[in-house]
Amino acid sequence: MVHYLSEVLISIVRSHRIRSYMEIGVNEGRSLMAVVNNTKLDYLYVCDNWTGKHGGKVWKSHEHIATLLDNCQVPYTEYLDGDSQKTIPEWCVANPGVKVDLVLVDGNHDPEPAFQDLQNVAEFAKIIAFDDVMHPGHNLLDVWNHFVDITPSAEHQLHAEGHGVGVAVLEQLGA
Ligand SMILES: C[S@@+](CC[C@H](N)C(=O)[O-])C[C@H]1O[C@@H](n2cnc3c(N)ncnc32)[C@H](O)[C@@H]1O
Repeated sequence: MVHYLSEVLISIVRSHRIRSYMEIGVNEGRSLMAVVNNTKLDYLYVCDNWTGKHGGKVWKSHEHIATLLDNCQVPYTEYLDGDSQKTIPEWCVANPGVKVDLVLVDGNHDPEPAFQDLQNVAEFAKIIAFDDVMHPGHNLLDVWNHFVDITPSAEHQLHAEGHGVGVAVLEQLGA
């Protein structure tokens, strides 16, 4: 079965020079590995509370992702285990001025925390992807529309395949 989110991410990493990637909401690593296997990353940030809330299994830890990454040549991987509402602001404080080329927001799908995740990553992301924008079980279309309305971005698109993936380019990257 086609995983449209992975298709969108692969098209981004093939058309932009993506060297750092952060994923909020990783679960079993399907979209994460699509990125890792299709570009040469220098930095990888893996963020999940491993509860399986809003999709996938309960894992309780990131060990399964560490195993998946065992044979991948990513020089630097950081695990941000816990609620992204807390871990991302903490990461920002610990990494002032650090930019991340591509960030996927696919964690808490409730409108308020999802919007907060988008706002938090807009501080340091060059490109943001946001999954499940048109998922019938969530109310994220208004969240996405409001986010792109208030966020200065070079361009934004909504890919309608699957459950909808929003992409906003906040800073242009080389090909
Ligand atoms: C839809 S799944 C992610 C799917 C994955 N991106 C993929 O495409 O295969 C959502 C994930 O978000 C995580 N999650 C839910 N709420 C979260 C929160 N507040 N902070 C961090 N992760 C969260 C869940 O544990 C789950 O693994």
